[in-house]
Amino acid sequence: MKIIGICGSPREKSNTEFFVQLTLDELKKKGFDTEFITLRNKKVQECSGCYYCANNNECKIKDDFDDIFREMLQADGIILGSPVYHSSITPKLKALLDRAGFLGRWVANDMKEKKQAYDWKGTAFSGKVVSPITVARRAGQNFTFAQLLLWATVNDCIVVGSNYWNVGVAGKGGNVDAHEDTEGIGIMKHLAENMAHVIKQLNK
Ligand SMILES: Cc1cc2nc3c(=O)[nH]c(=O)nc-3n(C[C@H](O)[C@H](O)[C@H](O)COP(=O)(O)O)c2cc1C
Repeated sequence: MKIIGICGSPREKSNTEFFVQLTLDELKKKGFDTEFITLRNKKVQECSGCYYCANNNECKIKDDFDDIFREMLQADGIILGSPVYHSSITPKLKALLDRAGFLGRWVANDMKEKKQAYDWKGTAFSGKVVSPITVARRAGQNFTFAQLLLWATVNDCIVVGSNYWNVGVAGKGGNVDAHEDTEGIGIMKHLAENMAHVIKQLNK
């Protein structure tokens, strides 16, 4: 069973990376295959809205998206990590999720005729366990967290939480100091326990 953690921060060794990696490390201790994927050095252009994927089951834009999408499809669990940027996820993570969500819908549904009803069979992400992690200096967690929840819940995923929202506080003056957020560390460790429990139950 594999769990991937996608980090939407453009910064090296970022606060979000710290929390996503910590959660993956906990899951590794519990016997899961894990993989950390940073978008920092990846080229992921925004969705062009061309609807090519609706008829061709692939994205027309050729960049690093295809490899990340493949990793997402192979995973049992996906952690979506983002810093809070003006109360939102980062643009590159939004670009990835727009393209993955839309392509993932057409991969699982064949509705080329205009007269066909929106009778969705699911998505490429159906049944996957997804958890958001957001990190802010001070405010805007709720909206950012909700953006990731909304992506997961429209894509037929199973969302797992913790004993608090899966949020970290860090970056005073832009510092990379997530390791000082002891409450956040506890929240992510418990998140790993919950993800492990749910994925094991689903795969029994
Ligand atoms: C463009 C930009 C916008 C930001 N907007 C917010 C914000 O709305 N609320 C907040 O609390 N922090 C905000 N921050 C601070 C970051 O969320 C904080 O530094 C976070 O730790 C960065 O995560 P990272 O180290 O994983 O990149 C912003 C930082 C940047 C660079």
